[in-house]
Amino acid sequence: MPSFTLGIMALYLNGNKIEELPFFRRVLQEADRMNIDAYLFTPEDVDDGKRRIYAHVYEEGRGWRRRWVPFPDVVFDRCRYQKTPRFRKLREFRAKYGDLIYMNRPLANKSAIHQLLHKDKDIRPNLPDTVMYKGTTALADFVRKYGIAFVKPINGTGGRGVVRIESAGKGTYSVRGRDKQRRILPTRRLSLEGVGRLLGRLGLTESCLMQQGIELTLPNGRVHDYRLLVQKTGEGRWDVTGCAGRIGAARSVTSNLHGGGKAISVDRLLKHTFPSGSKAEAVKAEMYALGLRVVERLESHFRDMCELALDLAVDRQGRVWLLEINPKPAREVFRRIGEHEVYRRAIVRPVEYAKWLYKQEK
Ligand SMILES: Nc1ncnc2c1ncn2[C@@H]1O[C@H](COP(=O)(O)OP(=O)(O)OP(=O)(O)O)[C@@H](O)[C@H]1O
Ligand SMILES: [Mg+2]
Repeated sequence: MPSFTLGIMALYLNGNKIEELPFFRRVLQEADRMNIDAYLFTPEDVDDGKRRIYAHVYEEGRGWRRRWVPFPDVVFDRCRYQKTPRFRKLREFRAKYGDLIYMNRPLANKSAIHQLLHKDKDIRPNLPDTVMYKGTTALADFVRKYGIAFVKPINGTGGRGVVRIESAGKGTYSVRGRDKQRRILPTRRLSLEGVGRLLGRLGLTESCLMQQGIELTLPNGRVHDYRLLVQKTGEGRWDVTGCAGRIGAARSVTSNLHGGGKAISVDRLLKHTFPSGSKAEAVKAEMYALGLRVVERLESHFRDMCELALDLAVDRQGRVWLLEINPKPAREVFRRIGEHEVYRRAIVRPVEYAKWLYKQEK
């Protein structure tokens, strides 16, 4: 097989720091072990005129270095959305250099993804009712119907601006959550108008989803959910690489690790809710099967995809709910719970898939 070059594409954040450097270093080290040329770059490092890139390379013993390199054959896009000219530059790069092989493409927002998945009758039962937030009248209906409602930004990340609204009796509502800076909001008891005003102050009225809330509180008062990582293998097939549980911080309505959540193995967390081993196994099998159904459905619509992580909730009856899809998933969670083999596979798989993809397209 002819050799090829793999470029991990990222964005600079405040100044010229790059997020996820330890992860990128591991990807480059795995590529090196497989004799694949690989480097990291951002669209700002590109010299269009000479069609070359001032890349970041990792040298054993010496650390990160800069070097001019030719364009990559295959691009692993790890750019996360930011409201900056840098993101525009990324769009321009992808438009201008459409001749490169991209392992993945940007997905649509949470609402568009929900609508697409909702068309699939095998996935629909696992989707919490989700609509655009249009004000408190519909919100009151949602709370009446489901007991709990969530309001969250359509393009949110990391549990920022996630608010949980529950009935507190006599026309009042109990509201908890996190603001857009991810600070925990103290629990408030408010009238419906008060809820509307609070959401307004939090900047959660435009471009927000309203979602059926799933009761995920454990006996210790903390919420929990699961992160399922699904990746393409070196044979170009989808496979579940691993699954981890997350337990939220005290008084938090979100389980995100960046918000103080703790990671725990999926089997241990399932045991909390389902002490019977066979029920826990059945729920886990359902989570894995749902993961594969979802990625296949999304791929048939969006094409080019190499990995996705699903945020899954499991209610007390054992029903599995898809809360959200993450197109640029982190995999640190597996290291945190000591599943080093899963963690390593989660890093090697994109490289093996890149190799397979290059072979297909040549
Ligand atoms: N409908 C819901 N019912 C119960 N809990 C929810 C619901 N929606 C969100 N949560 C909790 O809030 C967390 C964050 O929500 P979500 O994953 O939708 O947004 P995000 O974390 O901000 O996005 P990202 O995962 O891309 O960073 C979930 O992991 C879950 O713990
Ligand atoms: Mg999430």
